[in-house]
Amino acid sequence: MTQVVVATQYGGPEVLALVEEPSPTPGPGEVLVEVRAAGINPADLKVRSGAFGDDPAALPRRLGYEAAGVVRAVGDGSRWTPGDEVIAFRVQGAYASELVVPDDALVAKPASLGWEEAGGLMLTGATAVHALTATGVRDADTVLVHGGAGGVGQMAVQLAVVRGARVIATASPRNHDLLRELGAEPVAYGEGLAERVRALAPDGVDAALDLVGTDEALDTSLALVADRSRIATIANFDRGPAEGIRVLGGGPGADAGDDVRAAARPELARLAGEGRLRVRVAQSFPLERAADAHRAVADGHVGGKVVLVP
Ligand SMILES: NC(=O)c1ccc[n+]([C@@H]2O[C@H](COP(=O)([O-])OP(=O)(O)OC[C@H]3O[C@@H](n4cnc5c(N)ncnc54)[C@H](OP(=O)(O)O)[C@@H]3O)[C@@H](O)[C@H]2O)c1
Repeated sequence: MTQVVVATQYGGPEVLALVEEPSPTPGPGEVLVEVRAAGINPADLKVRSGAFGDDPAALPRRLGYEAAGVVRAVGDGSRWTPGDEVIAFRVQGAYASELVVPDDALVAKPASLGWEEAGGLMLTGATAVHALTATGVRDADTVLVHGGAGGVGQMAVQLAVVRGARVIATASPRNHDLLRELGAEPVAYGEGLAERVRALAPDGVDAALDLVGTDEALDTSLALVADRSRIATIANFDRGPAEGIRVLGGGPGADAGDDVRAAARPELARLAGEGRLRVRVAQSFPLERAADAHRAVADGHVGGKVVLVP
């Protein structure tokens, strides 16, 4: 049998339930993965609450876009072999002890990368690659990252450093040492943000990534970056389109970037396997505590990835 977390209705964390289902069988071009860790992302909370659609016919609804695990069975024509250690992204319903996914949703997990880190690597990593690519961040740029200590933010900071950029990143003061460890110069968000960034970068900021969605993040970016095509938001879908900046992800008027994000996976795995891209796992929970895991993510200041471990 397979254990699966489902949303029984749309609502708060309490709608999550653990159910048992018969083990699935992979069809042609599919793989059965025994899940060792599944990453939780804010988008999962929006699926659960109904913010991404509240069709009753879709209930009970599975959750989770990413996982790491071991291939247990393969369908005809698969390039994978039972025993392979893999990362699955982007998939549907990753909060489970077993999962059937299409062959091409998998990349090899580096042996040096832990299960929990691998399970929480891809969604934030691929989003960060998309944001850095869309804004053309490169060597010699100074880039401002709003929300540098968040899941996406930690990836964006480290990947911008890998590209050779100078990174200034916002976070709560308690996360400033973490940002320094990741290679960024920290600044506190809140009143006076633009002045604090100007003091650090009197010659200007070349690009800005809003990974938070506040008016402050957007207004500061617009004030400091001359070229609007070098400002991206992944979280302000209300104002972003009208401001002429890059709006990335799902939602009307946004660039989903599916190809960029899928293409980023092998490189993300390689960098993480080499220890050049750190996944900071803030908390992990068993499947039966998925509701508590969602509460931790809803806090908005968890300081890394929250993962489920079957
Ligand atoms: N469009 C897409 O493709 C896409 C993909 C992934 C995520 N997202 C969205 O992007 C956002 C971040 O996701 P995540 O996984 O990184 O979330 P997360 O790990 O919960 O991080 C949230 C971050 O927001 C910061 N923050 C909270 N309140 C703030 C404020 N008032 N001003 C400035 N920063 C503030 C936190 O900083 P401190 O902890 O330092 O206070 C933390 O760094 C979410 O809204 C998520 O839905 C979009």
